Amino acid sequence: MTQLPFYRLPYGARRDQLAQLAHLTVSQLATIAARRQNGDDQLIENYLTTYGLPEGVAVNLRVDGHEVVVPMVTEEPSVIAAASNGGRLLASREGIVTTVDRREVMGQIVFNHVADSTGLEAWLKAKSQTILDVANDVHPSLVTKHGGGARSIRVRRLPPHWVSLDVFIDVGEAMGANLVNTLCEAVADYIKAHLKVDVLMSILSNYATHSLVTARVAVPVTQLATKTVDGATVAEKICEASDYAQVDPYRAVTHNKGIMNGIDAVVIATGNDWRAVESGVHAFAGQSGQYRGLSRWWLGEQGTELHGELTVPLALGVVGGATRVFPLVAINQQLAGQPTATELMGIVAAVGLAQNVAALRALVTEGIQRGHMHLQVKSLALSVGATNTELPAVVARLQAIKQPTMAQAQAALTAVRQENLRK
Ligand code: MEV
Repeated sequence: MTQLPFYRLPYGARRDQLAQLAHLTVSQLATIAARRQNGDDQLIENYLTTYGLPEGVAVNLRVDGHEVVVPMVTEEPSVIAAASNGGRLLASREGIVTTVDRREVMGQIVFNHVADSTGLEAWLKAKSQTILDVANDVHPSLVTKHGGGARSIRVRRLPPHWVSLDVFIDVGEAMGANLVNTLCEAVADYIKAHLKVDVLMSILSNYATHSLVTARVAVPVTQLATKTVDGATVAEKICEASDYAQVDPYRAVTHNKGIMNGIDAVVIATGNDWRAVESGVHAFAGQSGQYRGLSRWWLGEQGTELHGELTVPLALGVVGGATRVFPLVAINQQLAGQPTATELMGIVAAVGLAQNVAALRALVTEGIQRGHMHLQVKSLALSVGATNTELPAVVARLQAIKQPTMAQAQAALTAVRQENLRK
């Protein structure tokens, strides 16, 4: 009898093969079973179980004149605390103000082995309206119902023998990846029917330079004071940290990682494609030829105000794709006040800026470890199996140790359990 390929095996057979291969224990199989979700097996190939991440909300964020509750999905204990803390620091006056000039997704049709790139460019430009019409005919409702559609084209010649036809598409409230790919394939078919060309591929670009969002803020420096350092000193050091991230890529990556701590968490909670966002944002951080910090902080003329700005490419959507598949996405959109796609871009950029100011303020004053310690000790206690009721006592024991280890956490839990037995 021929063995079926792995993906064609029924769920139980796949799981049993894996259990045998990886020597999974009964309790590990129970964990897999407990997290298995009906319906998820249709979403991906070779489905095993559903990997859950914690979700919480950041508060204190004032974005475009409104208080926003921001759903965030993250496994890192300090991220939501930092976002809320940053939000509080930046909430005075107008809070964070965001702008989105346009929100278009670019698709590209790449021509290969082009012998006459000047001729191809001229033909594509001459046909630009027809190309837009061909694209718009694929999904007329994008234009008639959703006010979107293919807006413009651009032609780039890339030596030695490639030409990219870039099509800019307003995808309405959607993320638009499938839509853009379909439209581009239709345009490629049209061109192939009229010209002898070799099309290498037709695909959207995740370098979302036509979906940029900027978050800006200005706060009195006094707002940034810590228990031991005055606000003006903190603000001045935040500016130094921001300038430093412009010149040292080693620091810039970590600086941006902090920003992405916030951005990714909201992008995931709202069912958007965080790999697309990550790759686009980091390409944007390197647009000058050197990888730089994405945010800038500087002092106003009098030195009494700290100004901050963050620009990031974020082609986010609020309908379609994963937003339809996961029920929590709809709940999260409701928690965030049912933002439009453009408003969501603003909220996400604002969280990135808040996350960044919280990280920089901690780094240039007491360092992040002190603030993180409580949360880290809590994770350590949870990782050795402390229950919610045991947690406070285990954490208290571990806080008395300078760098508690896993073994010490285990010992603390055992001691707490013995104490509880004696009660
Ligand atoms: C940790 O997840 C993020 C930070 O390293 C960001 C930064 O260094 O700016 C604290």
